[in-house]
Amino acid sequence: MFLRSTATVKSSAGRIAILALLAACGPNQAVDGEQYVSVLAGWGGAFGLVGGTAARGVARGPGVLLTYALPTSAPTPEQIQAHVSRPGDFADGERLYHRWCARCHGAGAVSSSAIPDLRDSVIRLGDGLAAIARHGLPGTGMPALGAELDEADADRILRYLQEQSPQH
Ligand code: HEC
Repeated sequence: MFLRSTATVKSSAGRIAILALLAACGPNQAVDGEQYVSVLAGWGGAFGLVGGTAARGVARGPGVLLTYALPTSAPTPEQIQAHVSRPGDFADGERLYHRWCARCHGAGAVSSSAIPDLRDSVIRLGDGLAAIARHGLPGTGMPALGAELDEADADRILRYLQEQSPQH
């Protein structure tokens, strides 16, 4: 979905007018064959109206009406599946990475930045990364995982990380 436009709702009268509009039209709209979905975000939703004393004193930012246009050529579920999970070594590398590395280096090979992001490391270390996976970095928090991963497994993880790196 693509963000097409936003409108800031400044007054409660404006909020109520938009709520009434949404209630009258429903949240899904088609204009010239293109479908839109609108949602209210921030202050101005139902909680502010019906929350009573619980809603008093909570932060009041401006309410925002977000309208998204649905892409006309959305990918099919099969296309999405083919992108997130590929057959063969890549899928094995992805699975092995998430089994043995992701809990420290981050899901999808994206580090939280507390420890090295392996998408960068793989550019600098090349094949050396697979050796580190098996032998660890003694004296640091990087464990030796050779008992869990043979050389072929470490190579599969290496190839998965190479595909995730921006230089791929
Ligand atoms: C228990 C947490 C943990 C696990 C699990 C883990 N690592 Fe690490 N890894 C670290 C830490 C911490 C460092 C940083 C060590 C240092 O330099 O102080 C590191 C560093 C590395 C480095 C060096 C990065 C660089 O840029 O210098 C590589 C390569 C690496 N890990 C690969 C892997 C792979 C591949 C796996 C999975 C097979 C894995 N690690 C699993 C914690 C972990």
